[in-house]
Amino acid sequence: MSYITDKEYRKIVKDILRNNNFKKLYNIEHHGISRWEHLVKVSYYSYKISKKLNMDYKSITRGAILHDFYLDGDERSKSKKFFDTFTHPKRALQTSMENFELTDKEKNIIVSHMFPICFVLPKYKESIFVNLVDKVIGTKELIKEHYCKTKYRFEYLFVLTLIFVGK
Ligand SMILES: [Fe+2]
Ligand SMILES: [Fe+2]
Repeated sequence: MSYITDKEYRKIVKDILRNNNFKKLYNIEHHGISRWEHLVKVSYYSYKISKKLNMDYKSITRGAILHDFYLDGDERSKSKKFFDTFTHPKRALQTSMENFELTDKEKNIIVSHMFPICFVLPKYKESIFVNLVDKVIGTKELIKEHYCKTKYRFEYLFVLTLIFVGK
């Protein structure tokens, strides 16, 4: 069952998926996919696993879908993107608070998701849970993104070689 057909999941995040600022994430690149896709993926996997583990899956699902809710995109310079690695959890918290009512637990899930790279401690087991799910999914996405880029470069070189050999 995917997030599209999972009625309970959709009910938990309905207001977020309908929010116009959140919809802007469709067009922002993140780990080679859209930031919207990354957030829904982290949140849906978190929901499925934490529900089975009898955790507070509603807070986990909502915190997870907002953990990277900031609107800076491809227009950023390389150095700004690098700097954002350390600052984006606070911006995600700020954007989330501007758009939704959040519990303390949801706030901590968002702002501590980059621990230990950022020094905001996860205060709840739900925060540690989302932190780990994001790391696993984010690493997988980054590996795939770099594999695709490398594969594309090799294919490009191969075609260029064929053109020169053919001359
Ligand atoms: Fe993040
Ligand atoms: Fe993330």
